[in-house]
Amino acid sequence: MFSETKEGVTRILVPKQPTKSIFYNPGMELCRDIDIAGVAAFVSSLPQQQASLTYIDALAGTGVRGIRVANEVGLSVAINDRSKPAYELINRNIELNDVRERAKAYNENANVLLLQNYYDFVDIDPFGSPVPFLDAACKSVKRLLLITATDTAPLCGAHSGGLRKYDAKPLNTEYHTEMATRILLGRVTRDLCKYDRAIDPLLSYSKAHFIRIIARVEKGGKKADERMKRLGFIAHCFSCGNRFVFSCSDMLEMTIEKRCVVCGAKMQIAGPLYIEAIKDKRFCEQVHEELGRRELGKKKEAMKIVAACINELDIPFYYDHHALCKTLKVPPPPISSLIDALQLNGFAASRTHFSDTALKTDARIDTIKDIFKKMNIVNLS
Ligand SMILES: C[S@@+](CC[C@H](N)C(=O)[O-])C[C@H]1O[C@@H](n2cnc3c(N)ncnc32)[C@H](O)[C@@H]1O
Ligand SMILES: [Zn+2]
Repeated sequence: MFSETKEGVTRILVPKQPTKSIFYNPGMELCRDIDIAGVAAFVSSLPQQQASLTYIDALAGTGVRGIRVANEVGLSVAINDRSKPAYELINRNIELNDVRERAKAYNENANVLLLQNYYDFVDIDPFGSPVPFLDAACKSVKRLLLITATDTAPLCGAHSGGLRKYDAKPLNTEYHTEMATRILLGRVTRDLCKYDRAIDPLLSYSKAHFIRIIARVEKGGKKADERMKRLGFIAHCFSCGNRFVFSCSDMLEMTIEKRCVVCGAKMQIAGPLYIEAIKDKRFCEQVHEELGRRELGKKKEAMKIVAACINELDIPFYYDHHALCKTLKVPPPPISSLIDALQLNGFAASRTHFSDTALKTDARIDTIKDIFKKMNIVNLS
């Protein structure tokens, strides 16, 4: 019924066939590898001994995340799943790795455990949306929050549901994956603020069907108020591709231009969402170092994502290079030459981990197009 697999240096029994009661997705090993490096990097910045720090894997399935944290980082871990067969397997996996002293299994509703206890680290890895667990997670967490979302359709604006679940309006733009990440972060910021807790995103990324955020949490009403200033909106013109970001206070003062300054069409508004940096560069560098020195199954891919995050500009949207070429009816030059050309013209420009065919820049759409056209004339002549 079960077979043994290995992630990092941890042995895990998983169901041979997918079952309804015990969930295991080998495709998420990459996410778990990055988590291990992320948790280890965060712990090394703290004065406490690992074993005095508490971690909850609140929606655990086989227990793979929590057991890896106990085994590979050394924290004291609560591993919970409300499914009885999952709970029984978590206990077997604890035995298999000989981490009884540091890991305890629970068979509860995650929200009950979270509302009854405080944990230094809270990990929420649900099916679909984390929203049903966010309030309790934000009340429980003391230091680090790790959250997955796989409900990318409502978050991206492809379905209705963004407003209903996240109290925010997404737009289905070419940078919808980043918009989804920022809408989720905006919602977490507000949930934490209710409990006088302040967020600092350390590493936020998206891959395939999921979004993962790793964020430091600190206590304090003043700090929480400060973080609320990091919420804002993005105005987007679907006619010419122009876009800009503005804060909630700009919104309240009604200083926002509703017509696109480039083409005159009506701008659409997305948000509220998190508009500041969604990563901490120094932290990402430490995660990259941790990834480099550990035994991990998805090391190469994990290091590639984190390296891309390190080098990515903190601008809250990106431009799809192929979409730009299509509107200009020009063949796409290599993306790196467009980045070079933008930089030579005095603008900031970088790639983004969100898409291999996109770039970030502080140049406005008409300027990007002008630079692009000039490059093509040069290339064609
Ligand atoms: C996506 S799976 C977890 C996968 C796991 N974290 C991993 O990395 O393999 C979500 C799990 O949450 C459990 N679950 C769903 N609702 C729950 C609740 N209210 N309380 C506790 N567990 C719950 C399900 O039984 C399922 O095992
Ligand atoms: Zn426009």
